[in-house]
Amino acid sequence: MLVGPSKCRNEDYIRINVKFASRVVTLGHILSYVPVPFRPFVAHLIYPPSDKRHLYNHLKPMIDERRTSLDSGSDTTVESDDYLKWLVEATRNKPDDMDIVLRNMHMNFASIHTTGLICTHMFYSIACNQAWQTEIRDEARHAMKEHGWTKKALEEMVKADSFIKEVLRFHGVSSVALTRMAVKPFTFADSTTVPAGTMFCAASRAIHFDSAKWVQPEDFDPFRFCHAARTELNGMVTTSYDFLAWGHGRYACPGRFFASYELKAILAYALVNYEIFLQGGGACPKIHWFVAACMPDSSATLGFRRRPGGAT
Ligand code: HEM
Repeated sequence: MLVGPSKCRNEDYIRINVKFASRVVTLGHILSYVPVPFRPFVAHLIYPPSDKRHLYNHLKPMIDERRTSLDSGSDTTVESDDYLKWLVEATRNKPDDMDIVLRNMHMNFASIHTTGLICTHMFYSIACNQAWQTEIRDEARHAMKEHGWTKKALEEMVKADSFIKEVLRFHGVSSVALTRMAVKPFTFADSTTVPAGTMFCAASRAIHFDSAKWVQPEDFDPFRFCHAARTELNGMVTTSYDFLAWGHGRYACPGRFFASYELKAILAYALVNYEIFLQGGGACPKIHWFVAACMPDSSATLGFRRRPGGAT
């Protein structure tokens, strides 16, 4: 989706993007203590600028290729209809290749750790309950039989959708959402006024566990979102004041539509082909908190036992 099928499997390209994604939050935090005028220098000291150049070398030929095909009007292939092409298209009047590379790094950062964390929570939760596995697997097999491995099949997997949405409610990536900074003095509807520079956020975990809003919020109920009739409003990607795992409003996660299909495809594929279990059995792995981040237990080990008659 970002750079096309061949580059996204390039090990060197993956390595640098993962390195950047896993360091940028900590380094950003360190930089926030540095006076603004010195930040560009300190940033260069604590993160190697050579990584940017390295990624530039990876992407530059592809950027040129997309620009040439756009300019010549010969770009009709679905294969190159990716984020790189959209950026080239959007910057046609003011091309800046390094800017495109940086935006791509930013997009990788936004998608890698979030999806990775939710995917891990998702597998731990499903590994602990064989009955849920059977229900979601049956649904996936049925949808695939009807539609093959297609977007339509994924859309029909309402139990998988509900299960992952419950993972997002119950764990999510953070206990807070909508982190913002007031750039000028701001007055809320209830007359609370905050001065410029104030940072604030919504207590999403408290809202997700509020019994005034949710039925038995302390229970992980995998199918809570498909007990009621299925509507657009109870699907995984729908945000609301009560469900803040993707944020809400104007800046809600724009990657959630992609992420929802991606997570469902991973879960469905794994369940159709494997029995999933926790190595050594025992209770479901505990979550850990790193400041506001909800981290899965890194010491737990998942087991995958191939099922006869799976589908690839
Ligand atoms: C399960 C996976 C994901 C979760 C839980 C998640 C969650 C979030 C959250 C909570 C925000 C902040 C929203 C706000 O401040 O109101 C956000 C922003 C963002 N996400 Fe995601 N995200 C996920 C996957 C992705 C993916 C796969 C992409 C890209 C392909 C992506 C791209 C972005 C971008 C670009 C922003 C910034 C939006 C802006 O500030 O306008 N995310 N995400």
